[in-house]
Amino acid sequence: MVDAKKIQKFVVLGTGGTIAGTAASASDHTGYTAGQLGVQHLLDAVPGLNDALQGDSLVCEQIAQLDSKDMDHATWQALAQRCTHWLGQSDVGGVVITHGTDTLEETAWFLQQVLSTTKPVVLTCAMRPATALTPDGPQNLLDAMAVVRDPMARGVLAVCAGRIHSARAVQKVHPYRLDAFSSGDAGPRGWVEQGRVRWADPGSWPVVHVHAHVALALPADNWPWVAVLHSHAGTDARQVSALVAAGVKGLVVAGTGNGTVHHSLLSALAEAQTRGVAVRLTTRCAEGQLVGQPAALQTAPSGLNGYKARVSLMLDLMG
Ligand code: SIN
Repeated sequence: MVDAKKIQKFVVLGTGGTIAGTAASASDHTGYTAGQLGVQHLLDAVPGLNDALQGDSLVCEQIAQLDSKDMDHATWQALAQRCTHWLGQSDVGGVVITHGTDTLEETAWFLQQVLSTTKPVVLTCAMRPATALTPDGPQNLLDAMAVVRDPMARGVLAVCAGRIHSARAVQKVHPYRLDAFSSGDAGPRGWVEQGRVRWADPGSWPVVHVHAHVALALPADNWPWVAVLHSHAGTDARQVSALVAAGVKGLVVAGTGNGTVHHSLLSALAEAQTRGVAVRLTTRCAEGQLVGQPAALQTAPSGLNGYKARVSLMLDLMG
């Protein structure tokens, strides 16, 4: 006897972004306003969604209505709390989040670090506003629904332009084209083709940060301040002393190449460390990761770009 398919509930949380953006003209792909349409409106605009759900049900909630360049810690906390709420319910199979592309990778990594669940959380987005002649949001949302409903999906994932990325590897690499994300050397976790998911490697479960519970409870205004600095030609080290004087608790430095740091910045960072500021090193290179111990600074968890290393250091400092 064949088992009847288990009917599940899936939750879609809206946060804004270009996927919810509108422009005055259908040909305008850049002069639009992000975060204008509600998440229910986005779902209503996906042709074939009901058929694709095969009897599963959807619930949606608007968590924020932001251009994701303005993403903040309080919204992250609210999002994580709503994910925790829904994922804790036995009939809920997973959560999809509609998000702007600009900081999607940071939100994905934050959620990966704080959500203690084996159920999938899938972020999706669009590079064109909903009013475009051919918007990419509806297809991305449909693909995200295929991924969240897939029995092999685990942890926090991002879906864009038919590719599935892990929260750890995903990075926005292009300001305009529809396929704006890359997983760099790691490659995508999989693909969505005609509504079917093809996994590159279904293994490797995500890791939750030991201080996840603190991030969900501590008021976001009290989260430790961690800033990202870049080493570059002519780096002015006064930015470090200014940040230390202003009370920064952690600094992530995106070094050149294999984590080399301008000599003036290096001495200012050493001084900051003696004043109790936590410093972590990563690379400003878009691909690859630090090899060996390139500078007299503690390295960030391997493979994280500066913005994700900032999330992890902030969580480290919550302990
Ligand atoms: C945003 O990140 O909210 C705007 C840009 C985008 O979604 O592509």
